[in-house]
Amino acid sequence: MSDVVVGILGGYGTVGRATAHHLRTWAGASVRLRIGGRRADAASAFVSAELGGDAEAVGVDLDSPSELDRFADGCAVVVNCAGPSRRAYDRAARAARDAGAGYVDAAGEEPLRDRLADPASGWRGPAVLNAGMFPGLSGLLPRCLYRAERFDRADRLLGYVGGIDRFTPGAAGDYVESLFSGSSEGGVAWRGGVRTPNALRRLTGVELPFFPDAVTAQPGLTSEVDTLVEALHLSDVDWYNVFPGDRVLDVLRRIQGTAPADRDVAAATGELIAAAELDRAGRRSYQLFVYQLEGTIDGGRAVRTLVLRGEDGYGLSGMVTALAAVEVLEGAVPDGAHFAADVLDPDRTWSWVRDSPAVTTCRVVDGPAGEDTDEGEL
Ligand SMILES: NC(=O)c1ccc[n+]([C@@H]2O[C@H](COP(=O)([O-])OP(=O)(O)OC[C@H]3O[C@@H](n4cnc5c(N)ncnc54)[C@H](OP(=O)(O)O)[C@@H]3O)[C@@H](O)[C@H]2O)c1
Repeated sequence: MSDVVVGILGGYGTVGRATAHHLRTWAGASVRLRIGGRRADAASAFVSAELGGDAEAVGVDLDSPSELDRFADGCAVVVNCAGPSRRAYDRAARAARDAGAGYVDAAGEEPLRDRLADPASGWRGPAVLNAGMFPGLSGLLPRCLYRAERFDRADRLLGYVGGIDRFTPGAAGDYVESLFSGSSEGGVAWRGGVRTPNALRRLTGVELPFFPDAVTAQPGLTSEVDTLVEALHLSDVDWYNVFPGDRVLDVLRRIQGTAPADRDVAAATGELIAAAELDRAGRRSYQLFVYQLEGTIDGGRAVRTLVLRGEDGYGLSGMVTALAAVEVLEGAVPDGAHFAADVLDPDRTWSWVRDSPAVTTCRVVDGPAGEDTDEGEL
């Protein structure tokens, strides 16, 4: 039996399970998994039913520092897939620090990154945050495309990201809290190297390449996209979040418009989960990433389009979380707190992602997104 232990908090949750399965394949017998959550019986049931009994099952509550310390003890990496995780902030990372383990978080975001970057936190090892689908895979894929197609330089990116999916309690809770604490800029895009508000408008009832139905495409930028602009030296970026259904979009707009005094995280989380079920009714779930990158290859002007599809965003998230854990285990992540999109190796991501059972389609089209007339949708 191996001495290398990877502990997955929320290990029998939706992302946690996908992480465990990917780790089984990618890290193999060299790693022993420790599966944790508040219900030890649910952890045991998952270990028996899906991991052939070959993992530890542990009851652990993020709200209990002593339980977290016991969970992290002996781990080489602590992977946090427990959610919602925003309220727990840096508790799991602190337990990893005290155990001398690396840290991976399917969520995370700026406040946790800044906290771990602060010397007062005592954090010294490697930490990979936002190791999920979006953010995470969303920022990695354009880098994969750039490397795989051997761009000399790139200047323009067009991205369509979205699909039909369920919302779990963990993901919905974190999303609602991020909407309550953030602000949105209408129609913002990058133009000539400048972040430009009102550059784009919402597209309603539009047919987009590779998307099976008419959709609403909502322009918007995230800090992950802004970092990508810097990393690839892009000057122009149009980024759309794509919604094939109306219900989730309506609830998101309502949540964003809620006055601070009226904010109720639990109620809004329930609304979001219910809206996703209504949008999903009678339809197949999918998540789709379409990226059109323009620049030069071998000195000549070139356009390439990457298309990646999965049937379930949580499987895609677990794939990235597991990849981050393997990179930390192998010493490929430098010390400090990083976001997955900025620190995971795009070449390895590209080769592993295409073999993952979470990915049903992954290919690159030679040309703009709309020109693949044979297979305009997947
Ligand atoms: N970056 C991305 O694209 C992305 C996408 C999806 C999800 N995520 C993140 O991944 C995390 C998990 O999401 P999910 O969809 O897997 O959620 P989920 O299906 O609701 O699972 C959550 C898991 O966390 C456990 N948990 C909840 N509260 C806990 C606590 N206090 N202590 C210990 N364990 C606790 C739950 O088990 P018990 O309730 O039995 O304890 C369950 O195993 C969330 O932080 C979410 O934001 C990120």
